[in-house]
Amino acid sequence: MECKRVACLGAGFVGGPTMAVFASKCPDIHFTVLDIDSSKIDQWNSNNLPIYEPNLYEIIQPVRGQNLFFSTNIIEEIEAADMIFFSLPTPTKKQGLGAGSACDLSYFEQAVRNVATILTKYKGFKIIVEKSTVPVRTAEMVKEILTCNCKELEFSVLSNPEFLAEGSAVNDLLFPNRVLIGGDNMQAITALFMLYAKWVPSDRIITTSLWSSELAKLCSNAMLAQRVSSINSISALCEKVGADVEDVARVLTKDERIGSKFLQTSIGFGGSCFKKDILCLVYLCENVGLSEVAEYWRQVIVMNEFQTNRYCRVISKMLVNLKMKNIAIFGFAYKKNTSDTRESPSAYVCNSLLQEEAILHIFDPKVTRQQMLAEMNFHEFLDGISSEKHLISHSDPYVAVKNTCAIVVLTEWDIFKNLNYESMYAEMQKPAFIFDGRNVLNHKALKRVGFKVVAIGKSEFCI
Ligand code: UDX
Repeated sequence: MECKRVACLGAGFVGGPTMAVFASKCPDIHFTVLDIDSSKIDQWNSNNLPIYEPNLYEIIQPVRGQNLFFSTNIIEEIEAADMIFFSLPTPTKKQGLGAGSACDLSYFEQAVRNVATILTKYKGFKIIVEKSTVPVRTAEMVKEILTCNCKELEFSVLSNPEFLAEGSAVNDLLFPNRVLIGGDNMQAITALFMLYAKWVPSDRIITTSLWSSELAKLCSNAMLAQRVSSINSISALCEKVGADVEDVARVLTKDERIGSKFLQTSIGFGGSCFKKDILCLVYLCENVGLSEVAEYWRQVIVMNEFQTNRYCRVISKMLVNLKMKNIAIFGFAYKKNTSDTRESPSAYVCNSLLQEEAILHIFDPKVTRQQMLAEMNFHEFLDGISSEKHLISHSDPYVAVKNTCAIVVLTEWDIFKNLNYESMYAEMQKPAFIFDGRNVLNHKALKRVGFKVVAIGKSEFCI
């Protein structure tokens, strides 16, 4: 079957960039990204995109209005599409059964139900694609809703999880190391395969059953997060025994069986995927009676929380007392090259410092004050705290550090590496500390300037 028209429900971090790359690689196919939020759609149609992602604007600009459209016209587009992607958020449930670990499928299910309503009387064939990361066997729920509500609809459900990482989304989509298509209908699998084959070498397109595909996505993120937790656990040990985590990592990465990626120690991993997907895996294991397996994976999150908390304790201990002390925070995004702050370890560290009544001067090149406040409020971190007095955001790092006693680096933005720390030092209270929560700065040079440098996984400090 030939696919001429594609609709994607959900104009977020995944839906927008994915359809943009599809559109640029498949000029003969019409792509529409749909959302119920008209202000978000307006932003996608403007020069000020709702998310920051390197090269995204450059990819979108030539195809927007040609074969890529952003719209709220859901009914018409769903009726017209041959293939419908579901790219809705699936956050961790906040209440009810499985609260704190199960996925909240309400947005996803609602979208499926809306599509079912639109297609109630539709006669013909549609391919339904799960793009969101979903619990294993979600496709069963999708099939049931469509079968019960759309008597004359013929359809096939595919699982096509996304492996893009924020900050490199466009690059990951243009040059994926693998594309995964799970399904049980060869015709539908081939139709999606043919879209990707326009630019992805076919040996990188893996086809599996629906359930293997849904599970592989969760496992992929769990394994990556496990590596970060592994190196972070070793960083704590390094501090106790006088070793250097960067030396240890260097030795590990030279072993090809271990590999070189995801061994950069940090204040902990963040982002909307790792924690959520591990929790989803844990919930699945518990549900099928595998409590030991559930505990094994839960430990990855326990280690992550340990690392963030440990670093907060280091800061408090080194600065002795934080009450009304001015502290510069470099970075609020959960990693570099993104404006996303979801589950950012930076928010957790800021919370811990605010609890000690510190005054934070935050500089992040891509995160607005509004976003910072929204993230902090989402976690209820600002309850009882005056954000006007204690959470000050700056657009200039040199202004942010004035009269502070410490700089705390919480995101690994490249720009932080090339600042003039000598002139910053002159403007700070002494002793002036730098807490490098990402180990990205030149510690020797900073020490020469006069800073007291506190890195992670180095023998110079122990707690
Ligand atoms: C991740 C997966 O990489 C991607 O394949 C999946 O589709 C979605 O989840 P993302 O969350 O965007 O992508 O970012 P990633 O680059 O994986 O980083 C996640 C977190 O781990 C960040 O907070 C990052 O700073 C941290 N990290 C990563 C480390 O602390 N050390 C490392 O060595 C690598």
